[in-house]
Amino acid sequence: MTIRKLIRNGVLVTASDTFEADILIEHGKITQIGIGLLPDERTEVIDASGCYVIPGGIDPHTHLDMPFGGTVTADDFATGTAAAAFGGTTTIIDFCLTQKGRPLLESLQQWHDKADGKAAIDYGFHLMIGEMNDQVLEELPQMIEEEGVSSFKVFMAYKNQFQADDAILYQTLQKAKEYGALVMVHAENGDVIDLLVREALAAGRTEPIHHALTRPSVLEGEATGRAARLAALADSQLYVVHVTCAEAVEQIARMRELGYRIWGETCPQYLTLDQSIMDQPNFEGAKYVWSPPLREATHQDALWNALKNGQLQTIGSDHCSFNFKGQKDLGKDDFSKIPNGGPVIEDRLSILYSEGVAKGRISLNQWVDLCSTRASKLFGLFPQKGTLAVGTDADIVIFDPAIERELSAATHHMNVDYSAFEGMQVQGCPITVLCRGEYVVRDRQFAGKPGAGQYVKRAKYDAGAPVPAKKVATTTRG
Ligand code: URP
Ligand code: ZN
Ligand code: ZN
Ligand code: ZN
Repeated sequence: MTIRKLIRNGVLVTASDTFEADILIEHGKITQIGIGLLPDERTEVIDASGCYVIPGGIDPHTHLDMPFGGTVTADDFATGTAAAAFGGTTTIIDFCLTQKGRPLLESLQQWHDKADGKAAIDYGFHLMIGEMNDQVLEELPQMIEEEGVSSFKVFMAYKNQFQADDAILYQTLQKAKEYGALVMVHAENGDVIDLLVREALAAGRTEPIHHALTRPSVLEGEATGRAARLAALADSQLYVVHVTCAEAVEQIARMRELGYRIWGETCPQYLTLDQSIMDQPNFEGAKYVWSPPLREATHQDALWNALKNGQLQTIGSDHCSFNFKGQKDLGKDDFSKIPNGGPVIEDRLSILYSEGVAKGRISLNQWVDLCSTRASKLFGLFPQKGTLAVGTDADIVIFDPAIERELSAATHHMNVDYSAFEGMQVQGCPITVLCRGEYVVRDRQFAGKPGAGQYVKRAKYDAGAPVPAKKVATTTRG
């Protein structure tokens, strides 16, 4: 029986370094990194010649098995996490929705029930905060201390559904500061969007493109700036999810320059697709209905620049898949009824490598930082996950940069009937993926098990590295 795995001949890439070395894995952990490590008879050798060896991707933004827009996402925790693994992701943090008037713990248990026994990779949960009252205030510390949920999500959009007001956001920021959590916002001005949507529909503008036209970028910039200023007032920390536009980047950059703890995420779709594809005939545009919407192509340069210069720090997939037939078509006669979201979980690392690294927009190390390490640090997973170092979980991706392929629904593993990136040529492909030392993908074939993924309790925001404990000095004689 082999009890160890040795990955040889690869080029290791972390958020800070690129070097040739071998990695020894024992009991799910990395136990050695070195040059010319030798196997014994109980060691399985994995040859990574010609490949990059990187820490498993961490996707800080997924929606699996989530009820939304009158239906439920097409991917659940079984299909979604398997597809994530094919794409080189070994940990996701999924959004747990909550219900007004119901205990937070009840919603959290519901999300555990969705994931437990199904997930093929590790997972954590963010918790939505939709109201603030004595019960929520009482439960928040328990969520962080006992449940390992150290990030809260507040929606500034989706009026009459998920949207919270500024007071709720502000109080959540205050409590996050007090207890050690990170507040995440969906930053769009939901009140004004609601008005613009009603005006458009009243004027007979019902096609998918009007989803984008009723959610202009200025309303994302406005909400981003507002949230960032509330975070500053509360001396708290804020993470803006799915940033799509120059206006929002400007707000984040300005507040960061002033020294505030404001972080921003963008997604592969906003870096590579633009609004014009929403104007296709035969309702095709519905495939690309996201909130915030795709923007005019000029915004893509602003987003790439922000990734390059550190104004934005992470890449989430915002995976929220709905079938074109039977789900997206709920909005055939009314764009506001098209379920919002798309399938991205499998393509996140590959698109960032191909469009980012291979095209010279970001470095290899930035790629790893954006897709893994930074999310690990922000969301309390570091150093257990998100890097290659002795003692960390052996969450490892062997990535072949020489493979050229085409993204397509015909070959992807997401449980959805279209690809948002159909026909896109990409350079590079994850070949083998290990989660805590076990194969999830082996030579591009699924080798994982539903239920092998474990729930990860996350540390408080900025809890810092473990403190070295003093050892009692011992000497050996004779
Ligand atoms: O359109 C999107 N982004 N759907 C998922 C829910 C959200 O707002 O993140
Ligand atoms: Zn669980
Ligand atoms: Zn959102
Ligand atoms: Zn989302």
